[in-house]
Amino acid sequence: MKKRTHIWLAAAAAVIAVLAGTMIMKNNGGEKKEDKKSIRVGVALYRGDDPFINNIRSKLEEKAKSYEKGTGVKVVMDVADAKGNQNTQNSQVDRFLSLGYDAICVNMVDRSAASYVINKAMDADIPVIFFNREPVEEDMKRWEKLYYVGEDAKESAVLQGNILVDLYRSNPDGLDLDGNGKVSYVLLEGESSHQDSLIRTEWSIQTLKDGGVPLEKLTGGIANWDRSQASALMEQWMEEFPREIELVICNNDEMALGAADALERGGDTRPVKIVGIDGTPQGLEGLKTGKLFGTVQCDSEEYADVIFEIAAAESLGQNVQDKVELKQGKYYQCSQMALTSDSVR
Ligand code: BGC
Repeated sequence: MKKRTHIWLAAAAAVIAVLAGTMIMKNNGGEKKEDKKSIRVGVALYRGDDPFINNIRSKLEEKAKSYEKGTGVKVVMDVADAKGNQNTQNSQVDRFLSLGYDAICVNMVDRSAASYVINKAMDADIPVIFFNREPVEEDMKRWEKLYYVGEDAKESAVLQGNILVDLYRSNPDGLDLDGNGKVSYVLLEGESSHQDSLIRTEWSIQTLKDGGVPLEKLTGGIANWDRSQASALMEQWMEEFPREIELVICNNDEMALGAADALERGGDTRPVKIVGIDGTPQGLEGLKTGKLFGTVQCDSEEYADVIFEIAAAESLGQNVQDKVELKQGKYYQCSQMALTSDSVR
């Protein structure tokens, strides 16, 4: 073949390659992100039967509907429950990514295992909005398309502590039931690996001490956020310290309700004060019926709105910061409010 023919063939091959490339781009959706008329979002839950998470899930589904109505952009939301198993969750995330979803929202089973999800999402160029179970900072720093939505654990605890400080200041006998000058308490803690557990415990007690409440710790234990585990521990403690417990401080509402169940079963009718955190529908009901004395309500509507707004903005190629004000370009902490049984009745 002559040199000229070679040049012609090479040029023709280049044109074909460019044309083929354009066709592939068209087949990939063709339209720009900004022109999309529908978005697909995957949501991976650590446990669907956790009442706090279940509440966020319902709020997310409501938000997706109102977003569709308001913007005309169709939303497909695919929710997967890992039932507490990280391997299951990894496969669910793999599926979301292989389906080419526009964004994924992940509530890690094991927050220290986030690098698996991050690696895969980065390879697929699909943004991740983590929520409620926070990956470590080094993981979060790895990519600009990683976000975290949660609550400030110290703030929850200080609000919880102050509910009790206020009560003690206005009516010490309301906490020191036997009038011996000490408030005898027990403590129910969430999962030890969860970022919220340690901080909530530490700052709740610190706030009580700073507020001048004389404390005596009888005992404490981990009930993993769970109502029945909390109830079993409380039952044990009531046998160990008969009619001595005056206050039950709990890292969340479910465990607070579990403690109330045990008191009711044990027939202890003293006005033992029980406080939680979350303000779930079940927790608020507990406040209304007087089972719980106080809680710290997380604004679950705002929580879900922010998760969804970030996912939608990323899906449509919009500037996320124009929609949601983020700290360090990736963190959002929801508002919280202290509630007592008096304020909801
Ligand atoms: C909530 C708990 C919930 C846990 C799940 C915590 O922030 O207070 O109620 O069980 O998150 O990860």
